[in-house]
Amino acid sequence: MAAVAWGRCFPRVWLRRRAGPGCGRHYRAALCAELKQPLAIEEVASCPVRPHEVRVDVHFCGVNFADILVCRGQYQEKPQLPFTPGMEFSGTVLETGTDVSTVKEGDRVIGVSGFNGMAEECIIDHKTLWQIPEGVPLREAATLPVSYVTAILALEHRACTRPGETVLVTAAAGATGLAVIDVATNVLQAKVIAAAGSDEKCSLAMRKGAQSIVNYSQGSLKEAVRKLVGSDGVNVVIDAVGGDVFLEALRSLAWEGRIVVVGFAGGTIASVPANLLLLKNVSAMGLYWGRYKEQNFPVFSRILSSALQYCQQGRIQPHIGAVFKLEEVNDAFLHVIQRKSMGKSLFGRSSV
Ligand SMILES: NC(=O)c1ccc[n+]([C@@H]2O[C@H](COP(=O)([O-])OP(=O)(O)OC[C@H]3O[C@@H](n4cnc5c(N)ncnc54)[C@H](OP(=O)(O)O)[C@@H]3O)[C@@H](O)[C@H]2O)c1
Repeated sequence: MAAVAWGRCFPRVWLRRRAGPGCGRHYRAALCAELKQPLAIEEVASCPVRPHEVRVDVHFCGVNFADILVCRGQYQEKPQLPFTPGMEFSGTVLETGTDVSTVKEGDRVIGVSGFNGMAEECIIDHKTLWQIPEGVPLREAATLPVSYVTAILALEHRACTRPGETVLVTAAAGATGLAVIDVATNVLQAKVIAAAGSDEKCSLAMRKGAQSIVNYSQGSLKEAVRKLVGSDGVNVVIDAVGGDVFLEALRSLAWEGRIVVVGFAGGTIASVPANLLLLKNVSAMGLYWGRYKEQNFPVFSRILSSALQYCQQGRIQPHIGAVFKLEEVNDAFLHVIQRKSMGKSLFGRSSV
């Protein structure tokens, strides 16, 4: 239902020019001027960079489920209107502020901003930029900050996943889901049961390294997992769906299992029956990517650097399902919200 309503209110974008102070140049940006309304593409005046800032020529920007929630006013962070969404991007440095020595003009970088990424250029604090190592394409690099950092934080930092353990991941063919499969199998040497909402998604998850699959649109997740692993259950669950899927996943945990709440894509926040935690000595925990950036930057930065390194070494292989042009912003949002996306969706310049 939500997806239908979203679709109805989202025609193609329109282009207009926003007046404002600046240094004479203009660039195009996706703009959310009113919550739950279509985004527009506007020409925005470039601002001068401050001493600690860097201007980046944005080549690719991730489309995250959270961007859509922000534009609906349903995300935990609520920027002041109007704003440009986009939490992660890759590109090349155009200009640096006088105090910046970490990057220089022409460097290839990825950036993490609360917002602002869905634009042709972006001004960002130099501390939230990372150099892209040689051999890692800008396209692949743009997938790392949200999906892969979330996957590594959830599996490694929160659930302390050990080699040989069994990980159940829901929405497994999504951006976060495929990153979880990639990291769990290829970095942590765990075994993955991938749960997703269609056979097509399940077979993609299998091709990307899952050992077993469950299509939860066709019956009980808990029963299907029991058939795969017996009554012992799984060691770790990474859940991005919530509601009944979360509850069935919780009931699929083994003795001393860990479930990490990553999101509520299904729209329902479940309550945890505390008796289930007690009976099998299991732990339920949360993971909020953006909060690590604020509260524990060293961990955030270390994990993002490891993701870049894994990518350079070929240990992880991000799956990019679709690349949209900036002016297709509303189509891109629909693609994700209507559950059509598989792997990461990006905005980008197709020629790069
Ligand atoms: N906590 C964090 O720091 C963090 C970081 C990244 C993402 N997240 C959250 O994780 C979830 C997935 O994010 P993502 O960007 O990776 O998106 P995504 O997986 O690429 O897309 C969302 C997926 O959720 C599943 N889903 C189930 N019910 C749905 C519904 N009613 N409407 C739409 N989708 C539904 C769909 O997969 P199936 O068809 O297979 O069910 C869909 O493909 C979101 O809730 C997001 O906010 C949280």
